[in-house]
Amino acid sequence: MQIPTKGVPREAILSSLEQARAHDVPWRDGKLYAYVFDGGREIEEIGKHAYMAYLSENGLDPTTFKSLLTFENDLVDMARRHLGGDEKVVGNFTSGGTESIILACKTAREAFRAKHPGVRPQIVVPATAHSAFHKAAYYLDVDIVSTDVDPETFRAVPAAMKAAITDRTMLIVASACSYAHGVVDPVREIAAIALERGILCHVDGCMGGFLLPYFRRLGQPVEEFDFRVPGVTSMSMDFHKYGLCPKGASVVLYRDERLRQHQIFACADWSGYTMINNTIQSSKSGGPMAAAWAVLQFVGDEGYLEFAKGLMRARDEIVAGIAKIEGLRVMGKPEMSLVAFTSDELSVFAIADEMKARGFHVQAQLRHGVSKENIHVSIQPSNVKWSGELLAALAASVAAVRAAGGGPKPPVEMGALLAQQIQADTTGEGLNNLIAMLGGGGGETPAAMAELNALINELPPRARERLLVAFVGQMFTPKNR
Ligand SMILES: Cc1ncc(COP(=O)(O)O)c(C=O)c1O
Repeated sequence: MQIPTKGVPREAILSSLEQARAHDVPWRDGKLYAYVFDGGREIEEIGKHAYMAYLSENGLDPTTFKSLLTFENDLVDMARRHLGGDEKVVGNFTSGGTESIILACKTAREAFRAKHPGVRPQIVVPATAHSAFHKAAYYLDVDIVSTDVDPETFRAVPAAMKAAITDRTMLIVASACSYAHGVVDPVREIAAIALERGILCHVDGCMGGFLLPYFRRLGQPVEEFDFRVPGVTSMSMDFHKYGLCPKGASVVLYRDERLRQHQIFACADWSGYTMINNTIQSSKSGGPMAAAWAVLQFVGDEGYLEFAKGLMRARDEIVAGIAKIEGLRVMGKPEMSLVAFTSDELSVFAIADEMKARGFHVQAQLRHGVSKENIHVSIQPSNVKWSGELLAALAASVAAVRAAGGGPKPPVEMGALLAQQIQADTTGEGLNNLIAMLGGGGGETPAAMAELNALINELPPRARERLLVAFVGQMFTPKNR
């Protein structure tokens, strides 16, 4: 595509924007169990209105846009109270969980370097910690050590984390809750290890930080996971997940200002204006921040408690329903509204395809360490009304896969063979051929993913990553050149 020579009329553009959605997964009906946290039209409207009202304001300079400074300080204050922080707790609004996590890791790295100049730092995480920590380690050029989790509960094992700590460890991590299985790590024990060893401890509350306190208020036992726990030095929490705010809304919090100082970037060593940034982005729309502020005001504490009631009920119904379907079993004990389940007889990848054919979009997760390949559902408000239908579709999908012989089971040697091919390919040519052979040529995913997922499932993580990087490269190469 080229920039059009003459501007296109407004109506034609708006119509193209609508048409462009034709091949997206429909989410408004509430049958997508990932990516979207939909509190309904009214909440969407207030978020949109606030977003548009502050679309053009620039968060780069809080002295020019004092409104944004006020919103940010308010959001941080609401977050720190929500997470049991005293008035010493400080933080910043960020574009999402990943940015919050990268910033927390950058802060830990700077704090570590100040004490241990010349030592290469390392992060210790449980294997269930979000991939954003691996991204942070990659971007910040620090090492990351991943420790096994309990094979039954999928919670971090504090003793394994303790054993992985060395003199190079700058940060240890716990999730509340983890994405994959929706369970809360033993934060108290992990933070106690951090205290004992004099290292920092981050609790990733991106997914659970907002909702878990409501589940506790509704009577579910939820262990303490926030700033009330001694030793927790930083936390991340996303407004754009269970805060039901438009995307681009998260917060990173620190125990005190002394620690947060390592996060702030200043540059007076160039010929332009003195640059001071709290976050990774420099220029940024005021939209996400204003929208988050507005949605939190609009829904209010009682509103969130109501949403939490529905989510808790749906979680219980879905967990109980899955347990009744022969051939399926729930993994661990989901503590929030994220549920992972697997099968010891049937291909979960084939089940996910069958679910798609029945209009339900669930997520296939590959085998990793003690976690068998599985299906994940993140239950969000617009899913709640579908729990019965979801279970019926699941029972029908299981029956269909069973009737068809159980789904693809690639020979075990296949993984090793493919992995060898992938690692041996230095030009990228072989990878492209392999992708074409697997049905993904030109960056298109096949309609039925079971065969492909079953093969990728057999690969070790590094080979999966190489294959997928090559695939995404194809995907993001414009076709009509
Ligand atoms: C536990 C956890 N941490 C971090 C993230 C990353 O958040 P984001 O996608 O907003 O960058 C997620 C996303 O699902 C998550 O579940």
